[in-house]
Amino acid sequence: MIKKKGQYIRLDTAATTLVIRADTAEYLYYGQRLGGGDIAAIPSAGKKLFSCPGTNDYTEYSLLFESADGGFAADLQFSKARVLAEKPEIPGLPSSYGDGKTLELKYVDAASRLSLFLYYTAFDNSDVIAVSSKLVNGTRKPVRLRRLMSLQLDLTGDYSVVTFDGGWARERQRHERDAGYGIFVNDSKSGYSSHAHNPFIEVKNEYGVYGFNLVYSGNHKETVERGTDGRTRVLVGINDYMFDWALPVGETFSSPEAVMCWAPDEDALSLRMHAFVGEHIVRGKWKRRERPVLVNNWEGTYFDFNEEKILSIAAAAKEAGAELFVLDDGWFGHRNDDTSSLGDWYDNVEKTGGGLASLADKVRAMGLSFGIWVEPEMISEDSDLYRAHPNYAMKLPGRKPVRLRNQLMLNMADERVQNFVVRTICDVIARSNADYVKWDFNRSMTDCYGKGIPSGEYFHRYMLGYYRVVCKITKRFPFVLFEGCAGGGGRLDLGSLCFFSQYWTSDNTDARERIAIQSGTSYGYPQTVMGAHVSACPNHQTGASNSLEARFNVACEGLLGYELDLTKLSEEERAEIASQISFYKENRKLLQFGDHYRLQGKNTAGFITVSKDRNAAIAVVNLLEWHPGDPAPCIRLKGLNPAANYEVSVRGSEWVRCIGGDVLMQADIPLPGLFDFEAAKRWSGGIMSRMYILRRQRS
Ligand code: DGJ
Repeated sequence: MIKKKGQYIRLDTAATTLVIRADTAEYLYYGQRLGGGDIAAIPSAGKKLFSCPGTNDYTEYSLLFESADGGFAADLQFSKARVLAEKPEIPGLPSSYGDGKTLELKYVDAASRLSLFLYYTAFDNSDVIAVSSKLVNGTRKPVRLRRLMSLQLDLTGDYSVVTFDGGWARERQRHERDAGYGIFVNDSKSGYSSHAHNPFIEVKNEYGVYGFNLVYSGNHKETVERGTDGRTRVLVGINDYMFDWALPVGETFSSPEAVMCWAPDEDALSLRMHAFVGEHIVRGKWKRRERPVLVNNWEGTYFDFNEEKILSIAAAAKEAGAELFVLDDGWFGHRNDDTSSLGDWYDNVEKTGGGLASLADKVRAMGLSFGIWVEPEMISEDSDLYRAHPNYAMKLPGRKPVRLRNQLMLNMADERVQNFVVRTICDVIARSNADYVKWDFNRSMTDCYGKGIPSGEYFHRYMLGYYRVVCKITKRFPFVLFEGCAGGGGRLDLGSLCFFSQYWTSDNTDARERIAIQSGTSYGYPQTVMGAHVSACPNHQTGASNSLEARFNVACEGLLGYELDLTKLSEEERAEIASQISFYKENRKLLQFGDHYRLQGKNTAGFITVSKDRNAAIAVVNLLEWHPGDPAPCIRLKGLNPAANYEVSVRGSEWVRCIGGDVLMQADIPLPGLFDFEAAKRWSGGIMSRMYILRRQRS
């Protein structure tokens, strides 16, 4: 809801309020929802909506452009404020959608006639506010844009900053530090949102926590600057690293959309972010729809497979109760390792036993859906595509390109290349009649160059090309379930989730490691988008062994899949997997769409998902470390109804007890006899894991 009273504008969500003063371009308040008091009485603290050099505000700025006369200064004065009933789309870029009102503010630099527009959307059913900006060149000469952040939020007080950082196989590890004085930067310069620093960040103090994210999959930058004047400024947007955009007369540059949210604590913030992603980012057929249990052959076979092998795994998958079989990398060109064939999206007839269409039909005849892996933005030098069109590759003239995973990237900023990708990938999906597509991306950008594209525009032009392609392909196949992937979860961001309804969280499938990766991911993203697979033991990334029960329990935090050669398992293990899948399907709605909370105790970590009516819940508690003689591990549950009694049972055990929701949440409940320490020894120090099933007892 947006209410305007003269220059004072109030945006309300169910639980938060944002107050803006339009003429002075100021934030007066952002936080917990206000009552009906006079917003015009809120004292000004000099918290600005935007900032540019050329004023006496020397904090990091949100906007920098160079006029034709070489000047950098801008004096943007208020021009008008409007409330729009429809949320405007951002040309060429994905953005959130849904019912709500949008505030449009316009500021004009009289000398140059450049206009800055700011947009704030308050959705009817979300506590997240979407923010974006655009710059219109109304001058008579071209200008050069050097920085346009999507969002500036000035706060007062002392804060800590939480980021989610890592690398391949260790994505989104949570790190918290004092913002301190000076500038803190969380960013990506590698051409994609990156494994290294996710664009989701939090800015926290004792009164609550602000969450920020960017609906963009390219270079991003979040800065938090605590100034000596008591203000803390948060900026979120495209990274201005190497950014230099020519803005001709009459043209507009639109920033990607940023989002912000306030909540009293991190649990509440996650719930608000989860609801927002599920309702306003994920779209199409798979929104709110239960996701299939899949079996993927990657860790089961890697590149070494033939039709017989694939069909035997698919048959075992069907027998276990899986619903979707996914054929991963290696089915095309002459790809038997990672040195060749990217770009040659035609069937390897030998490995697929006659082609993709016939293999897909055979899998479907077993009663499974069929899914296919592609990596559309890449090119191998050893490929027919490269031999025919070496200029399709992203590389600098006269220089040897950097190879990562033995491959180069396609120059997606070029429309011819974009059209090639659309054509060939649509053909793969159409000829296999795929029900699911895994869209992979296995390297970062290095030799950023495309003929005729200035380097300062390259990164963003790549993203515009990429979004054009992915938009066309996903629109053409509205019923297909798309799962994003980038060497695991390297491009798991809000931009991706506008096209891919789910994302492969990490290439690290080790249960112990996954707990931290999934927990870190869950701060900003819901379990509904997190692909989570049970893999073989010893684990291929860590060499560690964990029980099948622990691997399953951990994978239940996300969208369950199995990624191993099921035919190599014992009868007993296959029976256990069948029972796991059957349990998961019965409880899938709760697991995938319930309210998700992280659980943390001494040496214990896990999660609980609670149904919206709080009558049912499933909790997984993992004991990460145990030494003989240690006291019984304890945990506190979350999200339950404190006034209700719950029947608590443990999956796979006889243990049942009736316990009050208040006790489960407020007391450190020892988990008596629930961990099988003897069994754990057989797993050479693996984690111990138990799944609790809670049902509200009718009184
Ligand atoms: C990286 C992905 O994350 C894996 O799941 C797998 O698809 C490989 N690429 C295939 O090359």
